[in-house]
Amino acid sequence: MEEDLLRLKEEAVAALAASGKDELEPFRVKYLGRKGLFTSVMRQLGQASAEDRPRLGKLANDIKQELELSFAARLEELGGGKTGGGPRLDLTLPGRTEPCGRPHPVTQVMEEVCGIFEGLGFTVAEGPDVETDFYNFEALNIPPHHPARDMHDTFYVSDALLLRTHTSPMQIRAMTEQQPPLRMIAPGKVYRCDSDITHTPMFHQVEGFLVDRKVSFADLKGVLSVFIAKMFHHDTAIRFRPSFFPFTEPSAEVDIGCVICGGKGCRVCKQTGWLEILGAGMIDPAVFAKVGYDSEQYSGFAFGLGIERIAMLKYGITDIRLYYENDLRFLSQF
Ligand code: DAH
Repeated sequence: MEEDLLRLKEEAVAALAASGKDELEPFRVKYLGRKGLFTSVMRQLGQASAEDRPRLGKLANDIKQELELSFAARLEELGGGKTGGGPRLDLTLPGRTEPCGRPHPVTQVMEEVCGIFEGLGFTVAEGPDVETDFYNFEALNIPPHHPARDMHDTFYVSDALLLRTHTSPMQIRAMTEQQPPLRMIAPGKVYRCDSDITHTPMFHQVEGFLVDRKVSFADLKGVLSVFIAKMFHHDTAIRFRPSFFPFTEPSAEVDIGCVICGGKGCRVCKQTGWLEILGAGMIDPAVFAKVGYDSEQYSGFAFGLGIERIAMLKYGITDIRLYYENDLRFLSQF
């Protein structure tokens, strides 16, 4: 039996050395398998004398172990980590992950805008989307038949109720509830009956206002300059253009240097080098009168900006409707 073992070993070593990748598994079955040659030699162990049995047993075990090690080494050498010649199991491959959602780009920009003003000490207030004519127009110095109502294509719920056309009514809600000093922003949805590449019937605004003693236009300019520097770039150009809003006097529209062409003139800024980004002004004494504030003692500024527009400028988006088509190829870029 000893001879059989040694011969088998010699034969197996030679066979292993000559095996290619595809012959490894047949080798394992032939020599090391449960019904293989090695097992059949081991069976003879029962017939050996009691005296020889321990020595032969040890020899058989040693040879088998040696062959198993050589087999594993050869397998490694030929690059077949898995028996059967299939592809190697690559433990470094990343696992499958579940798709993960994220905030909508409008939400992201809304949070960024609010974060900047919160950093300047403004508190956040939210109000109803369905508003009364009084808060949306009347108290903001836009009486019935005022031509400024033309600028707001209003969705009416009833004669006295409407979907708010801007977030400015939050000025009135805050001022009728609180005494100055006041420093607030009011983010939210607004609605206008309008739809094209720069208008959707629902969009988002942030209204901001500050009321205190001795508030001046310079304070307004300071706050908006900080906001624009943080939102766009620290050296983004900014200019105030005289304008008109019934609830502010004086009123201005604020432009920034075109973020697309850097002010040289392009299609987006209609060759002017400037982009309008918000409306602002000093709160009109007529508005203070509506809420019972004394305009001899207090002054304040207000501004209103459109979130979709800011996001379009920031990311170079040319069609506002993309925000609301739910196309993941668009949304997942943010
Ligand atoms: N409410 C105006 C609008 O939606 C925007 C606006 C302009 C708000 C000037 C203001 C402001 O507070 O001072 O068109």
